[in-house]
Amino acid sequence: MRKIKLGILISGRGSNMQALIEACQDHSFPAEAVCVITNNSEAAGLKVAEQAGISTFVVENKPLDANKIHEILIQYKVDLICLAGFMRILKVDFLSKWHNRVINIHPSLLPSFKGLDAQEQALKAGVKITGCTVHYVTPEIDAGAIIAQTAVPVLPNDDIQSLSERILAEEHKCYVEAVRLIAESNAK
Ligand code: GAR
Repeated sequence: MRKIKLGILISGRGSNMQALIEACQDHSFPAEAVCVITNNSEAAGLKVAEQAGISTFVVENKPLDANKIHEILIQYKVDLICLAGFMRILKVDFLSKWHNRVINIHPSLLPSFKGLDAQEQALKAGVKITGCTVHYVTPEIDAGAIIAQTAVPVLPNDDIQSLSERILAEEHKCYVEAVRLIAESNAK
């Protein structure tokens, strides 16, 4: 089995990155994590990636040096870019070089609650079900084709933290399954 090579982009905690790295440590998983790139030198996820033996890179943030990101991804022969809490916008010139090869996880059931603070948006809207979505990244924010979704209940006493934690636990599984789906469909 040829494993697809993942380049993971993070800005912070990196728990979704960690879920992907752990999945890749299973020999039967059809992907391998080859590099982690961040725009934030303080990102907690950097240490997690280093401890897992993955090559890590910090790129210039202001303005974001997307050309540098592109070069690293090419150098590591990345097949699929996974945005995992990467809080910068990738512009059309970058995305056109990686057409249908950039995916993102978002903490809502898209197309509801696009953009920032999706969990807070869900609470304010009073929905009883929200969740997470893995989707292809296009120039329009949180609007690309949906790959996988998981629904999560909103409970009566939820606050942003409790709801975010419940969604995050599902994000980790949903992201791994979305990568598996893509890798297996590439292999056909
Ligand atoms: C996750 O909840 C992810 O869905 C969200 O940021 C968090 C990152 O957590 N992403 C977005 O809101 C993107 N619009 P992590 O760093 O622990 O993976």
